Amino acid sequence: MFLTPRTTSAATASITFRADQPKAISPDLFGLFFEDLNSAADGGLYAELIQNRSFEYQATEQPTWNNLTGWELVARGAGEGSIRVATTDPVHPNNPHFAVLQVKHPGDGVGLRNSGFGGIPVQAGHCYDLALFARVLFVGERWPSHEDAGHPGADNAGDAAQKGLGPLVARLESERGDVLGEALLPSPGQEWARLSATITASRTDANARFVLLVREQGGLALDVISLFPQHTFRGRPNGLRADLAQAIADLKPKFVRFPGGCLVHGNGLGNMYRWKDTIGPIEGRREQPNLWGYHQTAGLGYFEYFQFCEDIGAKPLPVVPAGVCCQNSGYLAGGAGQQGLPLEAMPAYIQEVLDLIEWANGPATSTWGARRAEAGHPEPFNLEYLGVGNEEQITPAFRERFQMIYAAVRARHPEITVVGTVGPFHSGSDYDEGWKIADALRLPIVDEHYYVGPDWFWDNLGRYDAYDRGRPAVYLGEYAAHEPDRRNTLRSALAEAAYLTALERNGDLVRLASYAPLLAKQGHTQWLPDLIYFDNTSVALSVNYYVQQLFSLNAGDRYLPIVVAGAAGDNLAASCVQDRASGDLIVKLVSRSCHAIQVWCDLGHAGLFAPEARCTVLAGDPLAENVFGAPPALAPETTTMSVGAQLMYEVPPYSLSIIRLTRRSQPAA
Ligand code: AHR
Repeated sequence: MFLTPRTTSAATASITFRADQPKAISPDLFGLFFEDLNSAADGGLYAELIQNRSFEYQATEQPTWNNLTGWELVARGAGEGSIRVATTDPVHPNNPHFAVLQVKHPGDGVGLRNSGFGGIPVQAGHCYDLALFARVLFVGERWPSHEDAGHPGADNAGDAAQKGLGPLVARLESERGDVLGEALLPSPGQEWARLSATITASRTDANARFVLLVREQGGLALDVISLFPQHTFRGRPNGLRADLAQAIADLKPKFVRFPGGCLVHGNGLGNMYRWKDTIGPIEGRREQPNLWGYHQTAGLGYFEYFQFCEDIGAKPLPVVPAGVCCQNSGYLAGGAGQQGLPLEAMPAYIQEVLDLIEWANGPATSTWGARRAEAGHPEPFNLEYLGVGNEEQITPAFRERFQMIYAAVRARHPEITVVGTVGPFHSGSDYDEGWKIADALRLPIVDEHYYVGPDWFWDNLGRYDAYDRGRPAVYLGEYAAHEPDRRNTLRSALAEAAYLTALERNGDLVRLASYAPLLAKQGHTQWLPDLIYFDNTSVALSVNYYVQQLFSLNAGDRYLPIVVAGAAGDNLAASCVQDRASGDLIVKLVSRSCHAIQVWCDLGHAGLFAPEARCTVLAGDPLAENVFGAPPALAPETTTMSVGAQLMYEVPPYSLSIIRLTRRSQPAA
């Protein structure tokens, strides 16, 4: 099979396919990397609508924050009261702070109001599940003599038991106080109890508020006040925002790496992401500052990540800390750079890693498998890959701890593919030293990261051609083409597309690849560019998203060698893969030329393919981008084209073209 130039074209290329020399490539090549960066989790993919639901925000996260951030006291009619924070007898020791509401004069109700993550978006007719923990501290006008209002007043505890504070009124309101929906919660008792109700919104409002009112005089402790749309992705409880999760699902990723990124190794040893803190009932999860400067509830925790992977047909690729914290810890918050867990703490830490494998894959009768089953998933999650460490500085402290973890996992779970790390750049000392460790330990695969300019990608299309196939395989875990102004231009997306053709060519070595970062919330962005932008009600897809999606939807498991030659050669990247299940042949052509390039393909075995092929093109001004809030400037368009024994195709300027030839069920005579 070959493509030859047409002389009338402004630019030409000669392309030859070697259909007789197919090679098997990774069927898992195109996946995703999710990190809670740019408010990707709380206020983003995680569908919780209440901000600071557990009163755990702290000034150490953001100087203007405190335990009541997001909340305000409301007093309706002649109501009068106060709100403060207490810590005695919390709902759960992992969740030490709670709110104490004192109602001095009930008026038309005294309580709390929460404005969500920049407003609570509700839709007419949709139902919202409210759950909270409450306990009565006292009834009537007396404030207990205790310093800390966490204890019920000794002399009126009996009153509380008998009289209570009556049902609590829960409302969705507009910003100016119109009631959009209301429900009553049962009268709380003297012990912490979870109360729940459902509120139906009567109208759509992108900027609603949640209000909780008490209509009796007294004191009430409140915690973990949670409001979820019933309409989450796949209807999962404690689930994900449906539109955002769908945009991710539409990428059809073969795997998802999570929960980071730098978030994993954390800002200091105490800030590492420890998976056990993120499972079980939400009131018991340990909330903590996010390395990226905000709060993580861990409501989107390991169970939710694994469930999401299963829901979208992607393999989970969790990453655990390698026993060291982020080398940038000092620079981020006055810490001391990379530090290792004390060696005497390593056996327990290694056991934590082994327990993760049991939690994911063990039978429901095993200790940790039982925890998974309790959460509603008795069947194993079929974990195959486990990342250990994230772009670490390769130091003796790292090496020692990584080796210990790797040896233990390999010994106990040889079925798990451990993904090693080779630093934050495409070259340099961490890269070199990381590869030395990978070679010495004969790691199955290592995780490379690089964020570089578009030209770097075009200039390095041959990078993996030169890699020794006898060494560990590669996971390109984080990459993106960065424009100087960090915009998501078509030029950046085409550079990534060109590189993806090279990854397909090297798909025997490069097993996995994931763009980074995935999500960014408008007004809460620490890192640009990203793949998907969103606010509370809408989702915008970058042109880079379309590149990822087109490669994923048109992946193959066999690569047919392809040779590009001619005057347009430097501006054209190409690949040809076959999907063995369907038999389809997929040709990808990426051009950074300002001219069209005429190509001609002799399909050789024309009878094998249907006479019409699907041709999907992403093209336009190389500096154009899809701007949030505006109609997309760039999106792929699919047409059909006739194919016979030969295929003529004009590659548009600045474009990605994907030509999918469908295999006939019966070859034509
Ligand atoms: O993707 C954003 C960050 O880039 C990741 O957290 C980190 O691994 C890399 O430096």
